[in-house]
Parts: sequence; structure tokens; C-alpha cells
Amino acid sequence: MGCITDGRAVANILYKSLKRLEYRGYDSAGMATISSGTLYVKKDQGKIDEVNERLNFNDMPGSIGIAHTRWATHGAPSKVNAHPHTDCNNMLAVVHNGVIENFMELKRELLDLNHKFVSKTDTEVIAHLLEENLRKGESFFSAFVNTVKRLSGSYALAVVYVGEPEKILVAKQDMPILIGVGDGGMFVASDAAAFIEETNKAVILQNGEVAIITTKSYEIYRAKDGTRVTRSPIVLNWTVDMAEKQGFPHYTLKEIFEQSITLKSALRLQDAYVDLLTEFLDRGEKIFLLAAGTSYHACLAASYMFSKLARLTTYPVIASEFVDNYGHSIDINTVILAVSQSGETADVLNALEFARLRAATILGITNVVGSTLTRISRAYLLQNAGPEIGVAATKTFTSQLIVLAQLALRLAKKRGKIAQFEMDEFKDRLYEVPDIVSNIIEDVRASVQDLAKKYAKEKFFLFLGRGMSTATAFEGRLKVMELSYIPCIAYSAGESKHGPISIVEKDVPVFFICPKDDTRKAILGNIEEMKARGARIITIGSKDDRELMEISDDYIGMPDVHELLSPIVYVLPFQLLAYYLAVERGLDPDKPRNLAKSVTVL
Ligand code: AGP
Repeated sequence: MGCITDGRAVANILYKSLKRLEYRGYDSAGMATISSGTLYVKKDQGKIDEVNERLNFNDMPGSIGIAHTRWATHGAPSKVNAHPHTDCNNMLAVVHNGVIENFMELKRELLDLNHKFVSKTDTEVIAHLLEENLRKGESFFSAFVNTVKRLSGSYALAVVYVGEPEKILVAKQDMPILIGVGDGGMFVASDAAAFIEETNKAVILQNGEVAIITTKSYEIYRAKDGTRVTRSPIVLNWTVDMAEKQGFPHYTLKEIFEQSITLKSALRLQDAYVDLLTEFLDRGEKIFLLAAGTSYHACLAASYMFSKLARLTTYPVIASEFVDNYGHSIDINTVILAVSQSGETADVLNALEFARLRAATILGITNVVGSTLTRISRAYLLQNAGPEIGVAATKTFTSQLIVLAQLALRLAKKRGKIAQFEMDEFKDRLYEVPDIVSNIIEDVRASVQDLAKKYAKEKFFLFLGRGMSTATAFEGRLKVMELSYIPCIAYSAGESKHGPISIVEKDVPVFFICPKDDTRKAILGNIEEMKARGARIITIGSKDDRELMEISDDYIGMPDVHELLSPIVYVLPFQLLAYYLAVERGLDPDKPRNLAKSVTVL
């Protein structure tokens, strides 16, 4: 966030605002102010209060400043990786939320120009690129715009510069920025929680816009062509608590709605790391996909992707069962891909320690840089989903799936087992997913809310799917169970005749997941079996599948998506259903009983 006032010191204002942004990330914090031609920067690893104890933000002089509390995406949490980042001569400072996709290429270019880097972050390239443009004699604003034009990826940026200390410059692409219009000063922040207690007048920047913020004004321009944009402030009648949820009643619903953005971020992987993991996976004799809970369901789906795209057999395994089940077959030719959004799940770490002692190769996919999983993995990929506050995994599940899909595609290319046109088609469909997701959630929200009202008093649900939809059935079951506390069971539909059908009687609600893929015909058969026993049939199917609609008591229609990507899309109604069932039943969706966000005990 940033603040510029009509003379009042900003340090304490920035500190209080940082505290309100802490929920968005808390592995390190920092602040930069300008006073009498000098740039002051204080930053360190740790929570905001810990860093403030050590460095005392409040004694930083100046009536202009920026501050940042970090959720690491590149570069582990540390003092040098904390924001703000500065140029070589400590003349400017930048804070950033998002992922700069082309930072390695920019960094190489700047290193060749003898810039000195101190961090491992993507953000630091912005400071040196801006320095390079200022060195050419450009004004602060024009140098900033030319810097922004070089960036690809997602960013919410705020920059201050000693040479023109009467303005804060900001830029927005895919990550939120709001301008807070106050009486004695102006604010910029990732969300209104940072300044809502100072002012409720806010201007929301749109993608591709840059802005000049001074004590009494703000000017917005389109970065690509310099066109001036006029936009009046809106009034946000939010409390701080509401602002932290960006107006949503709960973090869980906010995070369900965030998925089109988080999926875009998850598509911005560093090629070098994807290649590295691909190399290790391709060499493995036995490959295990190790996880717990929702992350295990992502591994289930991934095993179908690896098999169908790369003809690679992998074994999805529940972390707590791994040692007993496979422990003694592990050796130097074993590769374990551990998937854990927290990177701290004890069952996962315990299994990995056992495997490490047997010389297995350990790879990771996680949402938290600097987590234990990142430290014990030979190589890892980041989900870039941002902090997930709701205990139920929603956006981190779909970001895991899209990271795994990219890995499966890269493996397919390396192993050359499927035709080029199949790989091209899969890649095209993969990049369509974020937009499909953003439309669906709005489209199905109301009908899912009606379903929740209709079934809120149910005592039990059965979830059935086949193929990729088995993973969706398992995850849908977990979501509904952990948020509504209604007992649920989930099975591969082909298994229903081998036992589960015994519990089906009149009015038992059975969920079927039935996209238009190879499993559809068999699912239709399973539906008829359940209908014959009086079950109520609730189907999540393809939008235009009239035959399916006719045999269902309730039907949610989904847009077409590649069969291997269907769990990303078909899980959304279940995430919403779990949320609305909890609300209908008067429960707190963000904090379900007996559960922790990260299970760090065995
Ligand atoms: C999912 O909604 C639950 N919160 C839980 O099953 C979770 O997925 C599991 O504990 C694994 O967590 P991880 O991804 O951080 O390892």
C-alpha cells in the first residue's frame, strides 16, 4: 500500500494499514518513505509486529511512503527478499503484488547492464528497469510507463522516487489496486481494508491502467497509449472486516470467486522449473503422487492426466498410508511428487522423510514459498494462488490441478507419446479455463444456492463419478462434508454395484458428475440403477445434455471443457454447494469445527 499526505508523517498511517492487510500475507514486511531528498527503507522477515519491534517503522520521516506485507511467490521469505525493493543507488522503491512472468529475461538484460541484484525475487527487476529508464533522462512517469510496458504477468505496483517526491505511481494488471481519496491525503492499496478507516471513497483501477497519486489528486492513464481516463470515486459502505473480504460475507466465498484470477496466476509457471520437474519424473522408475485431503484428490486427477497425455503410470497415494503401503519398495529410482498447498502437512513431511532416507527423488507443488516442502524438495512448482484463509481448500485445489495439467503436457511433449495436434488442442483448452471458470461461478451460483436450500436438511449424500470425475466426486464429497457436517460418501460409479448401492433407497440424494466424455454412457446406466431404487438424482452435467436433464431431479449445466480438465470446472458447483449448505445450516464456512487449515500433527 502507499500513502501521501499534506504534511503529516505517513509512517504510522502505513503501519496501521499494513496491519489490516496482514491477512493477505505475513512472511515478511517492509516500508519506504522519502524525506528531504533521502529514501528510507526498513524491512525484514517476520510478521508485521515482529518486524516493527525490531526496526520501529514509526520513526521513519516523511509525508510520502509505501509499505508491503509479503506472501512469497519468488524467493523464500527473508530480509533481502522482503519488499520494498530498491534500485542500485537507493533512489527509488517499489512494492508489488503478483507474478512477473518474464523476470528472468529482464534480469539477464539488467545484469548485462551491470545492475546489482540483492534478492531472488521477480519484483526487484522492476526497480532496476525503472532506474535504467530514468538514467535515459525520462521523467518519473514516462520512465515508469515504459517500465510497465516491458512487464508480462500480473502486478499491482506502487513506486516512489527521490527525484520527484511529490507523487506515488501505481500500475495494475490482474491484481487489485484501489485509490483511497482522503481529505488530508491519498492512499493506494491492494484492498480497501488498508484505508477504509481513513476514507470510504475509493477509485478502482482497471487492467492496463497506471495512475499518478499526489496529496490532493489522482490521474489515471491507459499504459499502452497514454489516454487519460476519468473515473469518480465510489463510496464503500464497508467495515474493515467486510473490506478484508472485498465485500463477500466469508473468505471461503471470496476465494471461490477468485479462481479465475488464481488460475491465470497458476498458468504463469517458470519454464525452467517445469522442465526440471519433467526431467525428474521422466527418469523415475516408480512415481508416487503423495498428498492428503483435497491435495490427494488433485493427485487422483493428475494420475489420469499423466497416463492419458504422457503414457506415464503414476501412483496417487494418501500420505498417511504411504510408508506402510509402499515404504519398502522405495529406492533411488523412486520419484515422489508431493502436493501440499501449505507445504507443512505432517503426514506428507513424515512420508517424505522416510523416502529421503531411501534416496528417493522428492519434488513438490505448493502454495507457500519457504514452507518445509520447498526446502526438502529437489525442485518445486508454486501454485501462486495467494493466501487461502478459508479452512476448506477451494482456489488452491483448482490451482494445483492446472499446475499438474501443465506438468502432464510438458511430460507428453518430452515423451512424445501422443500426436502434436492432441498436445496443441489440450494446451488451447488449458488456457481457456480461467475465462470459463469466471463465467460459470456467476452462472450457477443462484441455482446452487437453491439446491442448498432444498437439501439443507438432508442426513446423507452419495457422490458418484467415473474416470476424471472420480476425483471430482471425492473432492465434492469432502467439501460438502467438511463445511455442512452432513455425512457423505463418494465412489467411482463403477463400484456402486459392489456394495454402496445397498444404502440407496427412496429419496436418498445421489450426486452424479457426468461431463460429455467417455464415461457418460456408463454413468447413464448407473443413474438408471439408482432411479430404480427411488434415489433422487442430482446431476452436474454438460449444459446441452437434454437426455441427462430429463432423467435428473435436479440438474446443473456446465460448459464444455477438455475431459482431462473437467475436475477444475465441475468442482465449482460443489464448492458453492458446500458453502451455501453451511450458511443454510447456520455454520461458519470459514472455520468448520474440528478442522485446521494446515494439519501439522500426525
Ligand atoms: C481440504 O479442504 C482440507 N482443508 C484438508 O483436507 C487439506 O486439503 C489437507 O489437510 C491437505 O492440506 P495441504 O494441501 O496443505 O497439504
